[in-house]
Amino acid sequence: MRGTIIAGTLAFVAAVNAQYYSNQSAPFNLVLSSKNSTLNGSTLGSCHEGAAIEGLCVAGPLNIDSGKYTFNYTTTQATEPTGVNVTGLLTWLLVGGNFEVSSPMQLDPVPTSNVAVPLLQPSESGQLVSFDAHNKLVITRYLDDTKPLPNYSSKPLSNWYACTTYAGYLYQTLAWVVGTEHAKPQNPTCQKVEVIRVFI
Ligand SMILES: *[C@@H]1O[C@H](CO)[C@@H](O)[C@H](O)[C@H]1NC(C)=O
Ligand SMILES: *[C@@H]1O[C@H](CO)[C@@H](O)[C@H](O)[C@H]1NC(C)=O
Ligand SMILES: *[C@@H]1O[C@H](CO)[C@@H](O)[C@H](O)[C@H]1NC(C)=O
Ligand SMILES: *[C@@H]1O[C@H](CO)[C@@H](O)[C@H](O)[C@H]1NC(C)=O
Ligand SMILES: *[C@@H]1O[C@H](CO)[C@@H](O)[C@H](O)[C@H]1NC(C)=O
Ligand SMILES: *[C@@H]1O[C@H](CO)[C@@H](O)[C@H](O)[C@H]1NC(C)=O
Repeated sequence: MRGTIIAGTLAFVAAVNAQYYSNQSAPFNLVLSSKNSTLNGSTLGSCHEGAAIEGLCVAGPLNIDSGKYTFNYTTTQATEPTGVNVTGLLTWLLVGGNFEVSSPMQLDPVPTSNVAVPLLQPSESGQLVSFDAHNKLVITRYLDDTKPLPNYSSKPLSNWYACTTYAGYLYQTLAWVVGTEHAKPQNPTCQKVEVIRVFI
């Protein structure tokens, strides 16, 4: 399903040249902002979903490095990674016994749900993301397919939720609801969150 394009919402998935986003930001944590005070302030941590596949769990870091993320960008587009609307990859370093491999975040929606689970997997491509002026993690919509196409209308979306998901294991993870900013998650456990970058 990799490379599937949900028209107008998850455009620009993958399909980038090998190692194009080869510049890397300083490390940061991803902290949730939510109306639910239990979730508010929670730090996301990588959690095992399969061989070399991690989800972004709400439970918080399971070890000291599991909640440390970086932003890979390219100096051909931006001189520094903290600018607004700089597109790049959210990356995490998978450290094994005798290897280290960069794992970008990918979004592979399944056809039967509108709740997509972001996964970190070794690859040279992934879902393009940005951070807005308030350090909020966003994905930019380039085409508005609720209008007759072509309708180029860039808009940063933040369809992030914390949901009980099953992408390998049953966890409360970060999830993305496919569609417009008004799309409602079909998974009843989903609670609205924003994801904030906090440099370490
Ligand atoms: C991100 O940047 C680092 C530093 O240049 C590099 O080692 C890593 O392979 C990059 N990751 C991806 C997915 O491009
Ligand atoms: C960006 O990456 C390129 C190639 O990996 C490297 O030559 C350059 O020094 C990097 N620039 C910065 C500001 O890190
Ligand atoms: C969430 O946490 C922030 C920072 O601690 C605080 O300013 C805000 O009021 C909290 N929001 C809620 C709904 O608890
Ligand atoms: C707040 O989040 C916690 C943890 O997910 C959950 O158990 C609780 O039911 C939520 N509270 C409300 C009011 O939704
Ligand atoms: C997008 O669609 C709206 C409503 O049909 C229209 O008013 C607007 O001009 C369109 N914009 C572009 C850039 O095509
Ligand atoms: C970022 O992108 C949004 C949406 O396209 C736009 O409204 C905003 O002006 C841009 N901000 C900067 C600083 O480029």
